[in-house]
This record gives sequence, C-alpha cells and structure tokens, in this order.
Amino acid sequence: MGEGARAQIPAILAEHGHRIFVLVDPFIATTPRFAALREAIVARGLDIESASDIPPELPVESLVALTARAREFGPDAILAVGGGSVLDAAKLVALLATHGGALPDYYGENAVPGPVLPIVAVPTTAGTGSEATPVAVVSDPDRALKVGVSSRHLVPAVAVVDAEFTLGAPAGVTAASGIDALVHAAESYTAAPLELDWSAELPVFLGRNLVSDTIALDAAQRIGRWLPVAVEQPEHREARRELAYGSLLGGISFASSGTHLSHALQYPIGALTHTPHGVGTGLMLPYVLDAIRVEPGTAGRIAELGLALGSTADSVEGRVDDAVAITAQLGQRIGLPSSLAALGVEREQLPHIAELGLQSRRLLAISPIPASAELLLEILERAHDGALTGRSI
Ligand SMILES: [Fe+2]
Repeated sequence: MGEGARAQIPAILAEHGHRIFVLVDPFIATTPRFAALREAIVARGLDIESASDIPPELPVESLVALTARAREFGPDAILAVGGGSVLDAAKLVALLATHGGALPDYYGENAVPGPVLPIVAVPTTAGTGSEATPVAVVSDPDRALKVGVSSRHLVPAVAVVDAEFTLGAPAGVTAASGIDALVHAAESYTAAPLELDWSAELPVFLGRNLVSDTIALDAAQRIGRWLPVAVEQPEHREARRELAYGSLLGGISFASSGTHLSHALQYPIGALTHTPHGVGTGLMLPYVLDAIRVEPGTAGRIAELGLALGSTADSVEGRVDDAVAITAQLGQRIGLPSSLAALGVEREQLPHIAELGLQSRRLLAISPIPASAELLLEILERAHDGALTGRSI
C-alpha cells in the first residue's frame, strides 16, 4: 500500500513465474502509468499477454472467452489492474483455467476444490476491496440476480494498492465505489457473529469477529472523512490515499465477516434499475442502520460507527441518530439519490424486491436482526419514501 507501490509489481510477478496473463481495465490500459508498468514488466524478462475487453457486468460468456485466451497462453500467474469487475474477472479466469468445468459448478460457497493460479491484484478504483476478498460476482443470463463465487482460494496472492491509479477518476465512479467501501465497513461491524462448528468446514463468511471489528472501524473513519473530498477534488492526493486505504481495510474486514442487508437488497434493486452496486448499497445503508438499531447490542455498535464518522453526541441513542443522519447526508453530498423513488423504483415493485432479497441466504444469515420478508419490505418502504426515524443533524 502506497503511492508508487506499483514499482514492486515486476519483482512480485517474477516470484510467481515467467508467463503473466494481464487483465487490465480498457481505460487504464491507455494511460502512461500503465504503459510504464508494462514496460517495467517486460524489462524484467517476463512474457506477458494482455486482455482488456472486460465488460463491466461480467457476463459469463466473457469469462469463458477470457479463459480460453489464458489457457492458450499458459500463464504462471495473473496480473489484474482495474476496478472490481477486472479483479473479479481475474479470480474467475484463474479458477476456470486451473480447475476447468463451467462457472455454475462453482456458484455459492466453498465449491472451489483447491488453490487457483496466483493473482496479483492492483485496484484502480477505491471501493470493492476485491483485492482482499474471497468473492467474485458475475451476471448469468440464466439467473435473475447476479451470482457470486465465494471461496478462500479466490483471495489474491498479493494486493498492490497504489492510490496514484485512482487519481482523477470521475466523481460518479469515485462516489459509487467509495460509498460501497463504507457499507462494507458498516455491515462488517454490525454483522451478527455466527455460531461456528470448528470441527466442520467453515463457511466463507463468519459474521463479525475480533479481526474484522478493529479494521472495520478504522475503514469507516477514513472513508467517512475523505470520500466527499475525493469526489469534489479528484486530484486530491491525501483523499485518494485515505480512500484507497479505507477501501482495502473495508475489503479485509468483510472478507472474513461478510456483509448483510444493504447488499442483500442491492442485488434485486441493481438488477431492476441497472444502477451501479455502490449506488444501491450506499442508498440503503442509512435505512438499514435505522432498522437494525432496535436490537440493543447492535445499537451500541452503530453508536461506535457514529463516533468513527464524527458524532459528538454523548448518549448511545444520540450517536446512533448521528450515524444514520451522517451516512444519509454523506450519500446526498456525493450525489447519490436519497430514496428508492428517486432511483426510479415504483412502490408496487417493493414486495418483489423483498422476495428476491430473501434469496441471499448467506448474507441474511449474518443479519443482526432476523431477516424476514416483512422486515425487508419495511426497510424498502422507508427507503422508497425517504423516511428515516433519526433526527437530522
Ligand atoms: Fe459491496
């Protein structure tokens, strides 16, 4: 992690072999920074084959085509330079190139049989934290919602986070990806702990735990402070650095804990409105916090999040009110729609969204309050109307 850290990439790649399949975001591929990196890799004596035709929604057929190219080249390792889709593509190409079969064989949790080709992940947006997580998400035309492949074998071998790659990213991209990182931190911190059977195979996502707790609060504090600055001043180096670091921390945090309600609801909302992942999760976050505050232990955790986000209230209730209001105001400041109505969702569509949201069982398993269809619908109705219970600050 650091500005200029990309200079380490050729040496890191050389540790993993000589033939490197490079997946790179099509815009990043045209930049002088990437050209210099490419040159340095070649100068190191490594053979590379690059692909940059990576569609943002990551349809399954695009991964099949990329895997065929990778197989033909026969790489020792994969270098991924791009946003969440590019990093996820690298995970899935590494999976298919190593183990064969078809992608649906691996949907869900713990279906990857063993290690995959090593991935060196270099994020160029600050948000998904995919450089540190065990999950990749794809669009399958046979499924109504996006589907995930989750396995610890998909965690990249190395993450190189160089915030200079994020300098100048457009406000809309910065906002949607950055707010998602805050949702990762907030949902990791408020996740329920799972009862673990240590003698059996563990689930990929364990609910909140000691490691994720510390990291999540640090992430929230950095993102809350610096996201609006990065959106308003795209070349602000300190903001970009803090946001890239906050995003990495958010990724490390939810990599072990998982996320819950905002994510479970975003999948159907995103499918319906064709809006970016972070727009949906970021819009939902204040409404989710507002709903889960009824559980006393969770209220204490939301209060701590409130402190990390700048609350100066001296009671738990006041800090929870602030956490809800600050996350809502942050969304508005960076240009997110403040309600599902503003996003174009009709009230009549809410029961169907709630029903689809229920399908995300692995996310709902770590919801801090029982996630019934009624609860999801209630959260959706409030989000539709822009109705938060907390006072505004
Ligand atoms: Fe997310």
